[in-house]
Amino acid sequence: MTADDQTRGASALPLPQRTQPDTGLIPPARTRSRTKPAEDTENPFRALMRRNRAPEPATLVIFGATGDLAKRKLLPAVFGLWQDGLLGSAFHIVGVGRQEMTDEQFGEFVLEALQHSKETDEIQPGSLQKFRDLLYYEFGDFSEDEVYSRVQQELDRAGQAHGGRKNALFYLSTPPSLFEPISTGLGRVGLADQSEGWRRIIVEKPFGRDLASARELNAALHRVWDESQIYRIDHYLGKETVQNLMAIRFGNAIFEPLWNRSYVDHVQITAAEDLGLEGRAGYYEEAGAVRDMLQNHLMQLFTLTAMEPPAAFDADAIRDEKVKVLRAVRPIPPERVPDVAVRGQYGPGTLYGERVPGYREEPGVKPGSSTPTYVAVKLEVDNWRWQGVPFFLRTGKRLPKKVTEIAVVFKRPPLGMFPGGLERNVLAFRIQPDEGVSLKFSSKSPGQEMVLREVVMDFRYDAFGAPLESPYSRLLLDAMLGDATLFPREDEVDHAWQIVSGLLTAWGTPAPDFPNYPAGTWGPNAADTLIGPDRRWRRL
Ligand code: BG6
Repeated sequence: MTADDQTRGASALPLPQRTQPDTGLIPPARTRSRTKPAEDTENPFRALMRRNRAPEPATLVIFGATGDLAKRKLLPAVFGLWQDGLLGSAFHIVGVGRQEMTDEQFGEFVLEALQHSKETDEIQPGSLQKFRDLLYYEFGDFSEDEVYSRVQQELDRAGQAHGGRKNALFYLSTPPSLFEPISTGLGRVGLADQSEGWRRIIVEKPFGRDLASARELNAALHRVWDESQIYRIDHYLGKETVQNLMAIRFGNAIFEPLWNRSYVDHVQITAAEDLGLEGRAGYYEEAGAVRDMLQNHLMQLFTLTAMEPPAAFDADAIRDEKVKVLRAVRPIPPERVPDVAVRGQYGPGTLYGERVPGYREEPGVKPGSSTPTYVAVKLEVDNWRWQGVPFFLRTGKRLPKKVTEIAVVFKRPPLGMFPGGLERNVLAFRIQPDEGVSLKFSSKSPGQEMVLREVVMDFRYDAFGAPLESPYSRLLLDAMLGDATLFPREDEVDHAWQIVSGLLTAWGTPAPDFPNYPAGTWGPNAADTLIGPDRRWRRL
């Protein structure tokens, strides 16, 4: 048990757990069950979403519909939204792949995927069969027009059932090498044209593999689509607790006055994973931790923490602020990298009491691979709010546990009046698991002596009593509604690549010290030096 765990148990003012918050808005807590009738199992948040958000009739066209992402995440998310009535009455899905399949076989594939995915909501009686009726499938070679013309015909078919509207959302859930050919193919047959209904495209990550390729991809997309039609997905932005960061910052009066260099000592952003490669060596060997996590997910958490309050809560106002803060990050040319960043790769080790192989022993990994599975970086933000306040970002695979957190660490009190009372207060946003927010501060320990001890005030998201929405559900629905707030804009992606480019250049050479952390530990020792000597990574 860590010090944090111990003090969490001794919370000074614990908020009630699993009780109804006094908002007047939140329906009562419900228990999840696969057998209860619809009205008993409905996610109460979805009920709230439905009241406010109903997309027009539309067709979702998924390229790569039989792939891993579609099977594990997308299809369960779409099914959940549809089952809860959030997609409206007129909705169809066209799966597109290179594999030859009939509509019936695709239907079987989807039903099987839904029944086996951990992400699938409670399945209500009869709903799988009804969902199956919405599914069409097309296959073909993505470099030829024929497959796109057949998608066109499917949109015409769905359009008849959609009151003549031919709205379509194209989801590119394919290897990145196919993003450009598919986008261009859609454009060639006129599928980006919005005269018969809106047309939007969702592009999965990774968005490019460096600054130059991201710019090429943006340019290729823009030859076909207007920026307002492009939705670059980063699933971290769909996480409920990531959105809560904005809610807490800008929906309360007590935090914002402290959110600056006068009170904040530093910020730590951690995305730790206990998993290793999960059979993705082919992709990961090329990507590594910088491209896989830092350039996108961590950079998004950073911008939401550091940005200025937006003028309005709309897509462009928020994204303008995110870009402004990215532009204020002090550049990291390759020669500065040794001073501000650390790379790591796990060797064999022990995790949850089991021996696990090192990265280089994983199937599909080159024996002398220099791909980083860990990265820590110090970002400095040259603006008025954050001058002198470092942001430390770290992420790694095969760390001791899965935990994602943003911790705002405040300055020490100016004067030590009591024994043990000079600790830094910490406001921590736990993104996952145990979603919530905690505030660590010093309190008098019971007894005759005036001795201080750190305690934690803890708000847990499960107090709302509702299961959290899957990020993909949230983001898919937003894209159907034309709300791009939670999708990175072209300039955001560009600036995020600019920031990490120096790391990629500096680390383009072999890493003689790899592997430099055993699986099941918190990363290389050099990461402690990076944050030290007067600061240390939080023990999570
Ligand atoms: C993906 C990365 O984008 O995010 C994976 O490609 C990583 O390597 C995953 O494991 C982490 O997402 P989450 O939601 O499980 O934290």
